[in-house]
Amino acid sequence: MNPMLNIAIRAARKAGNIIAKAYEQSPQEMQVAQKGHHDYVTAIDKAAEQAIIQTIHASYPEHSIVGEESGAIVGTNTNVQWVIDPLDGTTNFIKRFPHFAVSIAVRVEGRTEVGVIYDPMANELFTAVRGKGAKLNEFRLRVDNERRDLNGAVLATGFPFKAARHQKTHLNMIEAVLNKGVADFRRTGSAALDFAYVAAGRVDGYFEIGLKPWDCAAGDLIAREAGAIVTNFVGGTDYLTSGNVVVGNGRVVKDILGCFQPILTDDLK
Ligand code: IPD
Ligand code: CA
Ligand code: CA
Repeated sequence: MNPMLNIAIRAARKAGNIIAKAYEQSPQEMQVAQKGHHDYVTAIDKAAEQAIIQTIHASYPEHSIVGEESGAIVGTNTNVQWVIDPLDGTTNFIKRFPHFAVSIAVRVEGRTEVGVIYDPMANELFTAVRGKGAKLNEFRLRVDNERRDLNGAVLATGFPFKAARHQKTHLNMIEAVLNKGVADFRRTGSAALDFAYVAAGRVDGYFEIGLKPWDCAAGDLIAREAGAIVTNFVGGTDYLTSGNVVVGNGRVVKDILGCFQPILTDDLK
């Protein structure tokens, strides 16, 4: 096994165990702080991130890390960067809605080589190594390539609840794809799992505005290694920096992009 994948899995499982154990506590014991508009962090997000950082540094003390809660930790090796979301789906976790995940990616010279997403409640481990395919636990993942258009498709999306200025455009996006025959939507509350669920064929596509690199770095590789296409809203590849993502098989992505073009505001192009 790729040694960095091995460490990423070890770190994700440790963090997942911390999160699952804390989920058993009474809600009153949970320490919640507000980071920004509709944006919360708990002591568990921080504890999970520390466990991940310690696990990485035990094997790779020289590697750089960027974590949602700790920011950038610059190591002596800046070519390798671990990108961590210790708890993707904090709002679900706080509300005791059992759908959240640990997300860890390893990027080497700006290219994602390893991606791990671990859902501790379902005990589902999504993994990918660049060029080697994607897996859910021991099983190979393939995106649903049977779907030829949006008619009857089920899509995932996230509301831009931290960026109110995009709310209207997001509603227009939903309306535009519904008009093309999309059957239904899932708003799961974990961007990382939305990518993984496209990879697993559990939803036919996914789009969201304004993600952060730690929300999407691992999911991007897992989805692409399962055969999905990932683009920004105009078919470009800067989605890890813009955070604007469309994911699905090639035809689904093409149709979603077609729906979006007439309604995009300039800052989303
Ligand atoms: C959030 C979740 C959510 C997405 C938000 C993310 P967090 O991550 O992935 O599904 O809609 O954009 O910020 O804050 O729970 O780690
Ligand atoms: Ca996140
Ligand atoms: Ca998070």
